[in-house]
Amino acid sequence: MGGLRQRRERLREGIVAGNSRGVDRQHTLGKHTARERLEQLLDEDSFTEIDMYRRNQEGGDDAPHTDGVVAGSGEIDGRRVFVYAQDFAIFGGSLGEAHASKIHKVMDLAIATGAPIIALNDSGGARIQEGVMALHGYGGIFRRNVEAAGVVPQISVVLGPCAGGAAYSPALADFTFMVRDTAKMYLTGPDVVEAVNGERVSHEELGGADVHGSRSGVATVVYDDEDSCLEDVRFLVSMLPDNNLEPAPRAERCGAATDDRPRLAEIVPVEPNQPYDMREVVGELVDDGEFFEVHETWARNVICGLARIDGEVVGVVGNQPMVLAGVLDRTASQKAARFVRFCDAFSIPLVTLVDVPGFLPGTEQEHAGIIRHGAQLLYAYCEATVPRIQVIVRKAYGGAYIVMDSRSIGADLSLAWPTNEIAVMGAEGAVNVLYRKDLAVAADPDERRKELVTEYTERLMHPHFAAERGLVDDVIDPVETRSAVARGLAVLRDKRKHSPQRKHGTIPL
Ligand code: HXC
Repeated sequence: MGGLRQRRERLREGIVAGNSRGVDRQHTLGKHTARERLEQLLDEDSFTEIDMYRRNQEGGDDAPHTDGVVAGSGEIDGRRVFVYAQDFAIFGGSLGEAHASKIHKVMDLAIATGAPIIALNDSGGARIQEGVMALHGYGGIFRRNVEAAGVVPQISVVLGPCAGGAAYSPALADFTFMVRDTAKMYLTGPDVVEAVNGERVSHEELGGADVHGSRSGVATVVYDDEDSCLEDVRFLVSMLPDNNLEPAPRAERCGAATDDRPRLAEIVPVEPNQPYDMREVVGELVDDGEFFEVHETWARNVICGLARIDGEVVGVVGNQPMVLAGVLDRTASQKAARFVRFCDAFSIPLVTLVDVPGFLPGTEQEHAGIIRHGAQLLYAYCEATVPRIQVIVRKAYGGAYIVMDSRSIGADLSLAWPTNEIAVMGAEGAVNVLYRKDLAVAADPDERRKELVTEYTERLMHPHFAAERGLVDDVIDPVETRSAVARGLAVLRDKRKHSPQRKHGTIPL
């Protein structure tokens, strides 16, 4: 047995020593090696490696063991995860047949045992010298990504190049982490772009972390360095269930959910057009103000993220009046739709904070498919069977009111602050449509408009209008929102909803 242990140690040391040039190169670039990354990500001494001996059979005795990927299982806060880390020091982390089959193996084990999959990507893509077998290997990963979708959480961490079709595995994951300066994702690199379009662009401009964090929406979260990135992967895992049959881990009840939060009464201005930061509202509602926000710099007019309320993990979706007045547009609808579906797949209750003036008007939005993208959000909410609580913080107009988890599309509980304005549209717009003829002949149109606006507001937009009709379950004091949501979550905890059997729905993608 001692001989075996020594052989394994020699093998592991040999793998690192044989690639000392590649290791130095990683460090010079401010990157860690695959093994260093795993050490940082996982609990101490928890990593169990598989397939360390694996090598490319065509390469003979010179072929390096591991074939450029370190794979196995480990623990994060004592909970099992399956991991693989591509090793740029070996063949540039490129993916050949043996490399791919190791990834397939850990993905299969994760699906079979119901544990999250975490991929640390740092790779030149398909191993060119292995030709179609490399492509076949990628296909097997993508198929497993889809098989795992909604079954076990999938986290992809991009820590170096991730080029060509390789970018599709992170794109299929539930969360894609990227690090500034070192991570790059694109289907075709700058050389090909220049050859085809004549467009000169740097790696960073084409597919750097900020581009994907704020423009394409491919990156869920972006970090300045690997250390903070891997630390946050651990934080995210602490809020995710192991699989779709397990609940998300509850934290100790913090015991303070019944406290009033006086700040909530101060954050939101009464005037419907005054901006404020909805994240401040979230900060008051959730335990310890801790909020794992996804897509923070993409589609900023809506905010989405995971947090805990009274120890229970919730998905929070909120309009952001600070950006574009919180209007819903194409990207905001897509962002929220994807998040809602993730939460629903993993039984995470949804809390939706509404302050929305409507959908963004204009030819750009209409021609680019705002109807289709808005429908995706509508679809996502309508099919969600998790506990759903809507909180109307201020205004909720038109189609956007319906889409933001109104009772009519299946919210279980709708709470509204006394400043709520739920209506087909704002009073000014409504008066212009309803009383156009009246205003045209009025002796003093401005005075008449004022009268009509007041009349409309008093009749249709008073805070109890929706509550009197059962569309809002309660009108609450803002300071009590945290305790009201916590009570709602407790009441809804055992919610069961069964839909008719079908192969799958036909979400308008
Ligand atoms: C084999 C590769 C490789 C690859 C890099 N290497 N990519 N070997 N196949 N795809 C090797 C290099 O030859 C080099 O070996 C070592 O890795 C380090 O690479 P460098 O080029 O020195 O590193 P760097 O300057 O940092 O550049 C990194 C890079 C570049 C931007 C990723 O290597 C690159 O452009 N690689 C090719 C990318 C690519 O076109 N891949 C195929 C994409 S298509 P030595 O021995 O010199 O150290 C694809 C299809 C997938 O992936 C489809 C799935 C559906």
